[in-house]
Amino acid sequence: MKRIVILFSGRGSNLENLIRKLHPHKIEVVAAITNKPQAEGIEKAKNLGVETIVADHTRFPDRETYDKHLVSVIQDLKVDLAVLAGFMRILTPVFTEQIKAINIHPSLLPLFKGANALERSFASDMKVAGVTVHEVVTEVDGGKIIKQKCFEKEHLDFAAFEAKIHACEHEIYPEALLEYLS
Ligand code: GRF
Repeated sequence: MKRIVILFSGRGSNLENLIRKLHPHKIEVVAAITNKPQAEGIEKAKNLGVETIVADHTRFPDRETYDKHLVSVIQDLKVDLAVLAGFMRILTPVFTEQIKAINIHPSLLPLFKGANALERSFASDMKVAGVTVHEVVTEVDGGKIIKQKCFEKEHLDFAAFEAKIHACEHEIYPEALLEYLS
């Protein structure tokens, strides 16, 4: 039985999808962690029997002190892996050098690293777009690529594009995790 913790900040659709799809594969989501006390995902996790620990970044003086707190919370959970799913924080080496973590990003890395990747990918003149699961390192969205999925975006409007991105995320994140942990 592998143990993971999922970190998120908002809606939590990847969080919900991971809890649902990983459970039958004997991967235990031991807890979720959010930096946002009002995150929608808290209720979703609760409905699936997963407790969320709120680690509100606004209560810490700087990134390093916050990351130190996160590291200690995660270490106490004794997990095999931290899984970032829409966790909207830039992480310092305090975190990245001590915690083994993976992330999902809504673009075909190394293109469109960082914020607003989905919007920038949509606006580009590329004919394809996609999503990437990657290892977390100090450089934002710069870690080793674990899995990607792409699609043709040429004739999609923004709503259809966004829906396709999320569908791809929900398809590949559980698969990538299962492969990564096996
Ligand atoms: C996803 O698009 C993910 O790639 C990005 O943030 C979004 C989170 O969505 N990092 P959700 O909270 O999982 O619904």
